[in-house]
Amino acid sequence: MQPRRLALANQKGGAGKTATTLGLASAIAARGGDVLVVDIDQQGNATKGTGIVATEDLVTTADLMSRAETGALERAIIPTPWDGVDLVPSDISLGNIESDGSNDLVFRLDMAFEGVDLSAYDAVLFDCPPSLGKVLFSALIAADGVIAVTEPTIDSVEGVQNLITTLEGVRRRPNPRLVLDKIVIGRRRNTGEHIAREAELRNAYGDTVARTMIPELAARQDAHSERKKIHDFRGGRAVALQVAYDDLLDELNLTSSRVQEKGA
Ligand SMILES: Nc1ncnc2c1ncn2[C@@H]1O[C@H](COP(=O)(O)OP(=O)(O)OP(=O)(O)O)[C@@H](O)[C@H]1O
Ligand SMILES: [Mg+2]
Repeated sequence: MQPRRLALANQKGGAGKTATTLGLASAIAARGGDVLVVDIDQQGNATKGTGIVATEDLVTTADLMSRAETGALERAIIPTPWDGVDLVPSDISLGNIESDGSNDLVFRLDMAFEGVDLSAYDAVLFDCPPSLGKVLFSALIAADGVIAVTEPTIDSVEGVQNLITTLEGVRRRPNPRLVLDKIVIGRRRNTGEHIAREAELRNAYGDTVARTMIPELAARQDAHSERKKIHDFRGGRAVALQVAYDDLLDELNLTSSRVQEKGA
């Protein structure tokens, strides 16, 4: 069985896309699963976060998108120091893609997946850039589902609304299988603003908003700075974050069948 491909997105910067991508990857691995993280942000935060330094000999997502090549993904996948987590890395060169005017540009990432056996993974997670450009479109065409990651702030919530409009457009054509899996509230504090925005999101989107919220805790940044999985990080309130990502993983239902099969 091929794993679901999920795009973690929000055009708003700093909403917690990368933190959620890596947190979920860490949770899958902690459960004995395997996950492929596809970094499609020129900032390369997911790449660096897993301890990979993008060097010239690596095949990056920019390479996958600079020419049309069926199955090219296979050559781009590398292991990371994070046990259970493989990566398609990204670096600053992805920035050039937005100015590429080729007609087939936004289909190339999807083509790179064609025919590649990913059945070893429980999930494929795309860490998307903070924009609604061609790179994001490429991910939405290659993905089965979207996880909209938002801070409970007005700009980030607006970003979710814009993302949903974009998603609906892509679903009409060219990717009818695309669904909105969940809206995940990240970086949650108990402030008046956050409580009000959470209520607004739950009113507007009901059960699509994940019950689990990711609390804003310094351990998240500390683990990222040390290039560690949150499940391997000791200190601060890392355990509260581990529990949140585990619960979110349960809600997304990504690992249940395979990890049970493996007896983990
Ligand atoms: N739950 C959290 N608690 C504390 N800090 C967090 C949390 N989630 C994210 N952060 C921090 O907030 C900043 C932005 O988070 P992150 O990089 O995940 O957002 P992003 O949406 O990927 O940003 P960009 O749009 O730039 O790609 C980072 O410094 C990250 O460490
Ligand atoms: Mg990011």
